[in-house]
Amino acid sequence: MTETILVAVAWPYANAEIHVGNITGSHLPGDIFARYQRLKGNKVLMITGTDSHGTPVTMSADKLGKPVEEVYKSFHEGFIELFQQLGITYDLYTTTHSENHFKVSQSMFLALQKNGYLYREFSKQWYSPSAGKFLPDRYVEGTCYICGFEGARSDQCDNCGNVLEPEKLKNPRAKTGDGALELRDTEHFYLDLSKLEPDVKKFLQSRSVHMRDTVIGESLRKIESEGLKARSITRDLDWGIPVPVDEPQWKTKVLYVWFEAVIGYLSAPIEWAQLSGQKEAWRDYWIKPETKQFHFIGKDNIFFHTSQWPAELMGAGSAFLEFFAGEEGAPLILPFDVPANQFMNLEGQKISGSRNWAVWGRDALTRYDPDAVRYYLTVNMPEAKDSDWDWAEFVARNNNELVATWGNLANRVLSFCYKHWEGHVPDVDTSTLRPADLDLLATIEAGFNTVGAEFDAVRLRSALSETMKLATVVNQYLDVNAPWSAVKTDKDAAAKTIYTALKAIDSLKIMFAPFIPFTSERLHGFFGYETPLFGKQYTEDVTDAIGTHKVLRYKSVEGLQWKPSDLKPGAKLNQPGPLFKKLEVDVIEAERGRLGK
Ligand code: MF3
Ligand code: ZN
Repeated sequence: MTETILVAVAWPYANAEIHVGNITGSHLPGDIFARYQRLKGNKVLMITGTDSHGTPVTMSADKLGKPVEEVYKSFHEGFIELFQQLGITYDLYTTTHSENHFKVSQSMFLALQKNGYLYREFSKQWYSPSAGKFLPDRYVEGTCYICGFEGARSDQCDNCGNVLEPEKLKNPRAKTGDGALELRDTEHFYLDLSKLEPDVKKFLQSRSVHMRDTVIGESLRKIESEGLKARSITRDLDWGIPVPVDEPQWKTKVLYVWFEAVIGYLSAPIEWAQLSGQKEAWRDYWIKPETKQFHFIGKDNIFFHTSQWPAELMGAGSAFLEFFAGEEGAPLILPFDVPANQFMNLEGQKISGSRNWAVWGRDALTRYDPDAVRYYLTVNMPEAKDSDWDWAEFVARNNNELVATWGNLANRVLSFCYKHWEGHVPDVDTSTLRPADLDLLATIEAGFNTVGAEFDAVRLRSALSETMKLATVVNQYLDVNAPWSAVKTDKDAAAKTIYTALKAIDSLKIMFAPFIPFTSERLHGFFGYETPLFGKQYTEDVTDAIGTHKVLRYKSVEGLQWKPSDLKPGAKLNQPGPLFKKLEVDVIEAERGRLGK
């Protein structure tokens, strides 16, 4: 039975380049999982986009001294370039700065309002009379009222580590230099999460069997200890989505970035459907109860995905469709799983962009092949606990596993066969295969189930290590049967060995494909197949009422491929070549030398 699966990945902020920690945290596991599901013949939609609003983005624009729109676009386009080079196959990678996302977010707001989950309240906020506007908390600094530290942010003191109440800050000043500040009343909308707490709890309990302990534990614990509290969902800011209330005081306010960015999981499929010319196709991913949604995110985003977003969905209920499409609708479905990852460190220290203690995605790809990076990021994926990128280990894993165990296996067997059987698979009579040959093929065939089970449970590291173990089994089989010498003494026996090994490699190519798609695709070509394993990525410019944004898309290939090889005796092969590059050890010092500079 084919399943319908939404692979939703956390939306990266348009305020910094993407580094290996971000990649292994969400984009790469999302892509590996999506590729596996596509190979299984399931119907998959993988989406996300740039989180383009909010103070993280406006502050980075201020720092660069450039208009925020220009800054968001330049990060956005850089992300697209990275995902294309790294083969992160988003069916749609878009941005929250689109007319469609505005509309969908506003419809959610109106639905929540109609159902009684929003209320308005005044609070005090720092105001700059000279600039004529309220300043977001992050824009105000002053003296900590707890420890006396003079450089405290209004909402947090980096000296004593306390979370601060902005209105108690002493000697407040604007980071932007906007003159003296005064406290004024400002009105905001609040999402009353406390009303939705029982529903969120029930939702989490219903998912507790298959969700990771780290995720379900943290989510339920937070609710048990603090309960869900109302959260403000509007801000005094001029960059973002207008609040859909027709009263003058809301003209200078926007929806809070965390309220609207998560709504991207709904707006992106809607945009994808429009761009694909099947306007209603998004409904399969959002309304059919049997559809499964997976959210690939980092641990710092757990609350928003396991509690706030489900609360927004339950609160909006069927009223979303009423506002968005003007129809009596079904309610939207809820996430199936949130396989959040922990963090990746770098050479024993926390990754830090400002100290340049980072391995940046686009920069790394100027020196290393995408599959080498993907492989190391998967064996080291922080699924259960924090992990560490270590350059010596990067080189060792590349050379000992990717090159020596898998690459050499494929290359040795294919080249040997290509040479001794004139570019064809040996034309053996398969009814004469020996017990050892049949054993090996049975072991590999069973791998589709065992490795598949790891994928289904989103244990990607283990899926990869199981696959690599199978490659080792094939190497052992070749050591025992030594076709390299048998070809001179007993070509018939050598033919059986090579035929068997080719079939095993052809199968392993599929199991490796979600992890290292570029090399599996090349290998697939060496085997002489004419239809590719995967589809193609491409970009497009989309113009709407608020401007033009670039999107990354993916044209998928249909059909079931997650099955054992049916390579035929005598089939024609193409000229093979090496799949991976061995790395020199001096790479290690060179790379370490770049850090922190
Ligand atoms: N931009 C946020 C971050 O980088 C993640 C947003 S995920 C979303 O941490 F769902 F809210 F979009
Ligand atoms: Zn302090």
